Amino acid sequence: MTETSLPKSVTARAGTNIALVKYWGKRDAALNLPAAGSLSLTLANLGSETTVRFAGDAGTSDGRDRVLFAGAPAEAKFAARVQRFLDLVRTRAGLRLPAEVATTNTVPTAAGLASSAAGFAALALAASRAAGLRLSPAELSELARRGSGSAARSIFGGFAEMSTGTRTDGADAVAHGLLDEQSWDVRLCVAITAEGEKAVGSTAAMDRTALTSPYYQGWLASVPVDLEEARAAVLARDLAALGPIAERSALRMHACALAADPHILYWNPATVAAMSTVKGLRARGTLAFFTIDAGPHVKVLCRTADAPSVQASLAATPGVMRVLVLAPGPGANILHEK
Ligand code: PMV
Repeated sequence: MTETSLPKSVTARAGTNIALVKYWGKRDAALNLPAAGSLSLTLANLGSETTVRFAGDAGTSDGRDRVLFAGAPAEAKFAARVQRFLDLVRTRAGLRLPAEVATTNTVPTAAGLASSAAGFAALALAASRAAGLRLSPAELSELARRGSGSAARSIFGGFAEMSTGTRTDGADAVAHGLLDEQSWDVRLCVAITAEGEKAVGSTAAMDRTALTSPYYQGWLASVPVDLEEARAAVLARDLAALGPIAERSALRMHACALAADPHILYWNPATVAAMSTVKGLRARGTLAFFTIDAGPHVKVLCRTADAPSVQASLAATPGVMRVLVLAPGPGANILHEK
């Protein structure tokens, strides 16, 4: 592929996704292969938009990739992660050109709202197209996984399942769609309980859990049953069946991390208060179920018709700062290609 035959620039967007059966632990750190499968819901409106251009003049004066975040040069750690990812794309496309990458997020970055999932899904799509590649959804999912395990799921809209895979090269550790974003009318209410970055990043926390938590093997053994039951509940659009599986998966993941040494605790008092609010809603007959990621926020799955009352109850919970109500959203897609 020569420079002149490449698109001038490609812009892609992807929505973040929230796991209902959690991914927590890797079987291969270099390839980012998960130790168990997971199941998630991709969201509308909360995501990442990325523009990529490969060209001789696209990089910095020392020939490296130029990485912009929210219009300004990205911080070194983020830029290095993006550059490593671009190297994968260049190798695959047989390209040596530097890139300019401009990313904006509509997700509060690194606060347990899965900004890396949307970010690497959008980057996988934009960078591969900008490099002249035409990847299938499964290939895009595999590529996105190299950036962040959860990003593999944001290639797909609605409900998606990530497979552990059995191959050592990771070609079958990819996600696939279970139910698209139009097919089940649910909402995810996100109770924000803190500002700022999370205490321990997910990769470091997973590694520490795998190495030191006495519950790690028990956690891994529990995932296949959760996955099988959650998949059946999603396909049957059965919220009463899916919700309790999502709650137990999240609680087991956090229990496992809490037992690491040093312990990993993502919750704050408002996290626990919001969990009680959800239990109270259920006691009064509302189908509402929580999940919690590597951060203190509480995400509550409910029927669309119940979302206003779930939102109001969460907003009235002490310590909850605000509540976003999000619909299922589409998978990663191209916005412009010049
Ligand atoms: O893909 P990562 O490294 O951001 O890890 C995601 C970890 C959780 O969000 C806690 C669980 C999940 O399955 O998304």
